[in-house]
Amino acid sequence: MKTILLVGATGNLGELIARALLDKGVKLRLLVRSGSRAKLALDVAAVAEIVEDEVGACDGVDAVVSAIQGGPETIIDAQLRWLRAARAAGVRRFIPSSFSFNFFGLADGENFNSDWRREFARRADEERGAVEVVHVLNGCFLDTGVLFGFLGAINLDQNEAYLWGDGNHKMQFTTYADTAAYTAEVALTDAPLPREFCVAGASLTFHELVSETEAGLERPITVKTLGTLADLDAEIARRLQAEPSNVFAWLPLMYWRGMLNGKGQFESLMNTQYPAIHPVGVREYLKNMAAVNA
Ligand SMILES: NC(=O)c1ccc[n+]([C@@H]2O[C@H](COP(=O)([O-])OP(=O)(O)OC[C@H]3O[C@@H](n4cnc5c(N)ncnc54)[C@H](OP(=O)(O)O)[C@@H]3O)[C@@H](O)[C@H]2O)c1
Repeated sequence: MKTILLVGATGNLGELIARALLDKGVKLRLLVRSGSRAKLALDVAAVAEIVEDEVGACDGVDAVVSAIQGGPETIIDAQLRWLRAARAAGVRRFIPSSFSFNFFGLADGENFNSDWRREFARRADEERGAVEVVHVLNGCFLDTGVLFGFLGAINLDQNEAYLWGDGNHKMQFTTYADTAAYTAEVALTDAPLPREFCVAGASLTFHELVSETEAGLERPITVKTLGTLADLDAEIARRLQAEPSNVFAWLPLMYWRGMLNGKGQFESLMNTQYPAIHPVGVREYLKNMAAVNA
């Protein structure tokens, strides 16, 4: 039985990864911050080993999975600390909290969250030793809170979708649950894996996304064209200048830009490595949501 150390199990994705790992029959160890233990799901906490001290947390561990969220002190500094501990303990694989579109395709400054993840990846390449670092990349979460929420791309209440540029690049979408399932498989795989492990429930252009959304909802969506990609750059710069400390003013647009301009797209998908996972697409996700709400 493999032992997996998971950091971030009190978070949205982390809890799903914990469940996916437990479904695979692993010995699950959770590194939680002191004071956060009560946030763990009761059924997960009941069967996992819970540690609060980073010292010794990697001992006897086969793979470390990080599903944390935060600024550079977390994404770069804390994850490097855990990677060094994993290396010292002889851990086989480290899966950082990447879970994004292909941030390796973006330039510095285009998306601050991506900058920190790329910087972690660069430092990890230097410091990983024999540890295999695998970035699980899933595109945009297609769940209501992200694709149909945070991102500001499609407003299901207004039945509107918002386009900058021509919308002809492919964009990738995967649910939280499917991303968690793939991550558990990546953590447990014996064979070597590539540095970037790209999966998706759907690869769609903006126009295909609108069509799939309409099919899933069984109602029309109005496309509002807001400008060119150059106009989008200018809008992001304007918002950054006006509200530098309000990330919600500009961060969603930074993500939407990286999707619409094609820089964040994947070259190829690795879904077939784990054929038992059948990731849901946009239409199926929305149909399931409608059935639950009916
Ligand atoms: N691709 C997409 O569309 C998309 C969308 C959303 C998120 N994501 C990515 O998915 C990953 C997880 O996001 P999420 O939304 O699930 O996060 P979340 O719900 O905000 O949870 C964050 C987790 O990180 C933990 N954490 C933060 N700083 C920590 C530290 N210094 N030490 C230990 N634990 C720490 C938190 O623990 P506490 O309980 O102690 O605070 C919590 O468990 C992130 O990489 C995020 O960028 C991707």
